Amino acid sequence: MSDTSRVTLEKITALCKRRGFVYQSADLYGGLNGVYDFGHLGSLMKNNIRQQWKHAITQVDGDIIFLDGAILGPQAVWQASGHIKNFHDPMVDCTSCKKRFRADDINIKKACPHCGNTAWTDVREFNLMFQTQLGAASNHSSTAYLRPETAQTIFSNFKNIFSTNRVKVPFGVAQIGKAFRNEITPKQFLFRMREFEQMELEWFCKPNQSDKYFEFWKQERFNFYTKIGVNPEKIRLRPHAQNELAHYSTQCVDVEYQFPFGWKELEGIADRGNYDLTQHAQEANKDLSQIDDETKERFIPHVIESSVGVDRLFLTLLFDAYCEEQLEKDTRVVLKLHKNIAPIKLAIFPLSKQLAEPTKQLFNEIKKHGYICTFDQTGSIGKRYRRNDEIGTPLCITYDFESQDDQCVTIRHRDTLQQERIAIDQIITYLYNYFSL
Ligand code: GAP
Repeated sequence: MSDTSRVTLEKITALCKRRGFVYQSADLYGGLNGVYDFGHLGSLMKNNIRQQWKHAITQVDGDIIFLDGAILGPQAVWQASGHIKNFHDPMVDCTSCKKRFRADDINIKKACPHCGNTAWTDVREFNLMFQTQLGAASNHSSTAYLRPETAQTIFSNFKNIFSTNRVKVPFGVAQIGKAFRNEITPKQFLFRMREFEQMELEWFCKPNQSDKYFEFWKQERFNFYTKIGVNPEKIRLRPHAQNELAHYSTQCVDVEYQFPFGWKELEGIADRGNYDLTQHAQEANKDLSQIDDETKERFIPHVIESSVGVDRLFLTLLFDAYCEEQLEKDTRVVLKLHKNIAPIKLAIFPLSKQLAEPTKQLFNEIKKHGYICTFDQTGSIGKRYRRNDEIGTPLCITYDFESQDDQCVTIRHRDTLQQERIAIDQIITYLYNYFSL
C-alpha cells in the first residue's frame, strides 16, 4: 500500500544527500547557507524539468523566442525596473541572540523563536540584490548587480529581440537562467535559496488582450503541473490581494503547492501591464512602442508573465513523488516521478555476473538511442530494485538465463511492480513508445 503522508522535509533532504541529488555548496568548508550544488541525479532531473517546461510553453498558438541573458546587469537596468527602490524585505534582529529574521516570517509581538527573549530592533527594509563592482581600478569601476529575476534581460533586450525575429504580438520570450537574492533567511532546503534558477516567460500582447491572456496562461500553467505528474489535489491557484502585489504587477495569481510546511507559492503568474517596457523606454530614452496593424496607432505591449523556480519545482516534484510502501516482506521508499522527469530512465541488470557480457551489449545498444540508463550487477535483484525505486527509475530490465534461449528480457515497472517479457529486438521500439512525450 502506498503512503505519501509520511513525507517530511528531513526525509527529502536526507534522500537528496544520500543518493547524490543535491549537496550543500562548499560542504567541505561547513557549507554556504542558501546555496546548493546538484549532483549527478539532480542535474539530470533539472535538465528534464527544463525540457518539459520548454516543451509545454512551445505548444501554444504564437511564437516563443528564447533568450539566454547575462547574469550581471548595470545599475541603470535595476533603476529602471524599480528593483533598487522596491526590491526589499522587512528585516528585524533579536538584540539578545543576534539572530536575524524576515519580519513577515515571525510575530515580533512574541518572543524570539531562537532564544525566547523579546528584545527586537526596529523593522528595517533590506534590499535583496547582490551588488558588485565591475573593473579593477576603483575610480573606473561601475556598480553592477546579479539579477534577482531573469525577466529584466528580456525587457531590456526587447528592441533587439523584436528587430531580429520576425514576430508580432502576441508572442512570448522565454528564458531559463540563474537569479540571485540575498534572502534574509534562506530556508526549507531548496524552497528559499540565495542562488537559484528561474524559468520565465514574458508574453507580449496588445493592451486590450491582457485579461484574456492572463486567464489563458493561468490555465495553461496549472495544466502543466498535472501533465508532469503533480497530484492535482495538492495544487491550487491563489489570487493575490492588492497589498501583496509586487511593485510591477496589476494582478497576480500564485500556483501553490501543499508542502508539509503549508500551501506555498510554486509559480507566479502576473499581469505586468506595460510597466517594464515603459520604465526602460524612459530610463534609456528609446522608443519601445509598436504600431498596431489595424488602428495604425502606437502602443507599448503589455506583458503576462509566468515565473517558476527550477529548484522549487524540483523540490515540489520530490515531495509529490515520495512514497513509503508496505510490501509483503518489507517497506520500500519509492519516488513515483513522472517518467519524463525521472533522472535515470532505466536500469539494466544481469541476473548473475556470468550474464554480464550479453547484458552489457544490450545496455550499450540502449544508450546509443539516447536513454540515460545504468548498468547494475551488484547485490541481489531485490536490492537493485530498491536502489532504483528510491531514485525514481521507471523501468528495470533483467537479463536472465532464459534470455539466451528465448532472446527476451523481463521489464519491471516501478509503480505497479508488474513484470513483462519483451523480445530483445523489440526493446528500442518499446522504449520509444513508452517515453515519447
Ligand atoms: N519575475 C518575477 C519573479 O521573479 P517571484 O515571485 O519573485 O517573481 C518567481 O519569483 C518564482 O521564482 C517563484 O515562484 C519561485 O518558484 C522562484 N523563486 C523566487 N525566489 C526564490 C528563492 N529565493 N529560492 C528559490 N526559488 C525562488
